[in-house]
Amino acid sequence: MTVSQKTNNMAYSPIDFNAIQKLTETEAKAVDQLILKELTSDVVLINQIGHYIINSGGKRLRPMLLLLTAKALEYQQDDHLVLAAVIEFIHTATLLHDDVVDESDLRRGKDTANAVWGNAASVLVGDYLYSSAFEMMVRTNNMRVMEILSKTTTAIAEGEVLQLLNCNNPATTEEKYLEVISRKTAILFSAATRLGAVIAAADTDIEQSMAAYGQHLGVAFQLIDDALDYTSSKDELGKNLGDDLAEGKPTLPLIYAIENGTKAQADVIIDAIKAGNRDSFNEVYDIVKATNAIAYTEQRADEEAQKAIDALASLPDSEYKEALELLARFSVQRSY
Ligand code: IPE
Ligand code: IPE
Ligand code: MG
Ligand code: MG
Repeated sequence: MTVSQKTNNMAYSPIDFNAIQKLTETEAKAVDQLILKELTSDVVLINQIGHYIINSGGKRLRPMLLLLTAKALEYQQDDHLVLAAVIEFIHTATLLHDDVVDESDLRRGKDTANAVWGNAASVLVGDYLYSSAFEMMVRTNNMRVMEILSKTTTAIAEGEVLQLLNCNNPATTEEKYLEVISRKTAILFSAATRLGAVIAAADTDIEQSMAAYGQHLGVAFQLIDDALDYTSSKDELGKNLGDDLAEGKPTLPLIYAIENGTKAQADVIIDAIKAGNRDSFNEVYDIVKATNAIAYTEQRADEEAQKAIDALASLPDSEYKEALELLARFSVQRSY
């Protein structure tokens, strides 16, 4: 599908996500096979929920980034496949837990697992996916890989807890918000691209560059996610709008609107964050638009995407490198 160009300051042409997917199509199929194989358990509910969420789709962006990095560095063995599956398992586990914490009803265009089976089942199957991921990663027999992934899951948990502490707090600063999204989202992107470099036995500076690329892309990705929570449509996003407001999450669109709106506008947002419900969604939406808070969030995402692209400078030229550049832009231009 073609991602249409947004009306922000990015003078880029639309990005063909399908064309990028094609570059790692064979590997991605093998990764999906591995994922399905690993989901098999004699505990029926694990199979049911696991297949439900995995088969709901999802962009598979994180595994794609790992595969592209490994290929850009001419990696020749098979560990990229298992690690791509590990990364998607960890991602899926965070989604199962996140939808419980955020009380979300819709994900990937379908009822969330917690809406269908309840919170307890979602949390426990999320735990199963985390544990399975660790079991799989041990198979690579690579201590560096295990170190990176265990640090990553710790940081994700820290990010989610930090975010919980910021909920309903309208005094949350842009800096604190960035700390949350760096940990809860960007660190997993960074692990994916770093691992691609680690298994390809790349030099330390390439490994650092790939980690920086993933980190900046991940920040851009979450900035846009937080804008889309106000601006997208349920059908396109596959998630309900207003989930962040319903939890009283002080995301960047709200932080900027408080700082740059009139006193009356700021008060509406402050009250909405404290209340943590959807009642004032339409009013809040009008204010984030009117104060250019969405445009600012997109601009910040754009800057992060550019930093991600700059981090690729030392990577040898290839179609895989080009795809990585395009995916940094896609993370900003996306509407789903
Ligand atoms: C959703 O990630 C969670 C965030 C970090 C915003 P994705 O948008 O990559 O989710 P799927 O896998 O494509 O559904
Ligand atoms: C997702 O954050 C981050 C993790 C899953 C760790 P969000 O709560 O913003 O993501 P969505 O909007 O539910 O996908
Ligand atoms: Mg959520
Ligand atoms: Mg969100």
